[in-house]
Amino acid sequence: MVDTETFVPDAVAEIKDEIGDANAVIALSGGVDSSTAAALAYEAIGTQLTAVYVDTGLMRKGETDEIRETFDYMDSLRIVEAQDRFLEALEGVTDPEEKRHIIGEQFIREFETVANEVDADYLVQGTIYPDRIESEGTIKSHHNVGGLPEVVDFEGIVEPMRDLYKDEVREVARALDLEEVVSERMPFPGPGLAVRIIGEITEEKLEVAREANHVVEEELEEYEPWQALAAVIGKATGVKGDNRVHGWVVSVRSVESRDGMTARAQEIDWDTLQRIQSRITGSHENVARVVYDVTHKPPATIEYE
Ligand code: XMP
Repeated sequence: MVDTETFVPDAVAEIKDEIGDANAVIALSGGVDSSTAAALAYEAIGTQLTAVYVDTGLMRKGETDEIRETFDYMDSLRIVEAQDRFLEALEGVTDPEEKRHIIGEQFIREFETVANEVDADYLVQGTIYPDRIESEGTIKSHHNVGGLPEVVDFEGIVEPMRDLYKDEVREVARALDLEEVVSERMPFPGPGLAVRIIGEITEEKLEVAREANHVVEEELEEYEPWQALAAVIGKATGVKGDNRVHGWVVSVRSVESRDGMTARAQEIDWDTLQRIQSRITGSHENVARVVYDVTHKPPATIEYE
């Protein structure tokens, strides 16, 4: 638990103190961590802060519009339309770490352009405690923690939530009156739908993944999962109408967790699973089947890549 009555003013004062009259940037992903960090920093330094949202083309359905609406009050919000550049850079790439690396690099390039334009000396990050722990290990490269500071030459990095857990961040978000769509939102990985598509990223797989994730989030909301998601994991045979198809297999996953470091697969009732199956197979002519993932973390991870 965090005492928001002291945490918020302390964090605002700390940010003001560190940044002074300089300019700062923050990468806004739309998730609760970066949104809360951005709201704290905006309260501290106003338009000296530029919040940069990069639309990578790997976002969830409707996400960019939600960002536009939620952060409309920030005069210094920048939305970078980079979908084509990301998809081009990812063409033909199948290795999971290489995909992450390319996404991280491209992200840095997009972000750096804006940081230079606004003459930013400071970087504000929504890093939280579990991010730091996982980055110290070798589990996966989390591009939102590792990459930026090494490449862009900032005078300082400000991480006002470095000691908080996710549920504490949500408490801070509520204390700051952030909209519920933000404060209660499920975590979404920096590399976006890319880690929910096994193998090469194509427009078709993205379309399937985007719609399937939307269905799953909607149908499983009542289970209050830490994360509920759908991944395009391969191809298998199916019959649609009179035709056999060699179509996509979509895996549905819903887990409980406190911090993402361990997780338990949730037990979902059959009717709900069947409704999800029917909506996802009906969403695209090339989806052949839907499976439900019952694996905890460990041994599986939450995401697929
Ligand atoms: P895994 O799949 O490693 O995920 O069990 C643990 C938590 O971290 C999220 N995740 C990421 N978040 N950048 C992020 O910002 C990443 O590269 C990344 N990879 C995984 C995942 O959604 C889960 O909440």
